[in-house]
Amino acid sequence: MSEHNIHPIFDRLVSRDEQQRLLNQKSKVFWFTGLSGSGKSTIAEAFERALYNQGYFVKVLDGDNIRSGLNNNLGFSIEDRTENIRRIAEVAKLFLDSGVIVLCSFVSPTQQIRELAQSIIGEKDFIEVFVDTPLEVCEKRDVKGLYKKARAGQIKGFTGIDSPFEAPIYPTLTLSTIELSPLDCVNKLLELI
Ligand code: ADX
Repeated sequence: MSEHNIHPIFDRLVSRDEQQRLLNQKSKVFWFTGLSGSGKSTIAEAFERALYNQGYFVKVLDGDNIRSGLNNNLGFSIEDRTENIRRIAEVAKLFLDSGVIVLCSFVSPTQQIRELAQSIIGEKDFIEVFVDTPLEVCEKRDVKGLYKKARAGQIKGFTGIDSPFEAPIYPTLTLSTIELSPLDCVNKLLELI
């Protein structure tokens, strides 16, 4: 890195092992991917609460939250989504190195985008969870009213309508939300811990 005049001091700081010992847990990143309205955030929230209640130290990073702060200069082109996910993965890695369990809830619509996240976070700490809710169901629920707007052409490049969503090929876990309640989903996630 010295060719960029940058001299990281990672090796002198309190290590991940030390932080994990302090917190009495092993840090991991759970990466929730799925369509808008698929239930990612609901499941992440419920999982966070369940982990917290068991004494774990957890942080949720969520699309709409991060896009209202850190990433409020990004839109929904593939380039911007890629930059969105790159920054989030870097933030998740900072938490991971601090011993924290991180729950990332982002559409992260393409294989390439999720591979980028995985490469930043590291394969062994990246747990991919596919929140598998069919488009028809997300669109019918339309909690935020965005599918209606997308169908009316008021939003361009909406995931699942006129922008792609590629389902993960080998996720660690698939949560079929038409068969499972949020509580069932949390129980399946707890089995992974
Ligand atoms: S990602 O594609 O870059 O991973 P992210 O998870 O941060 O997306 O944000 C998705 C959220 O932004 C959706 O849940 C929805 O509320 C909102 N949104 C607004 N415009 C779009 C769009 N064109 N496509 C998808 N989501 C959108």
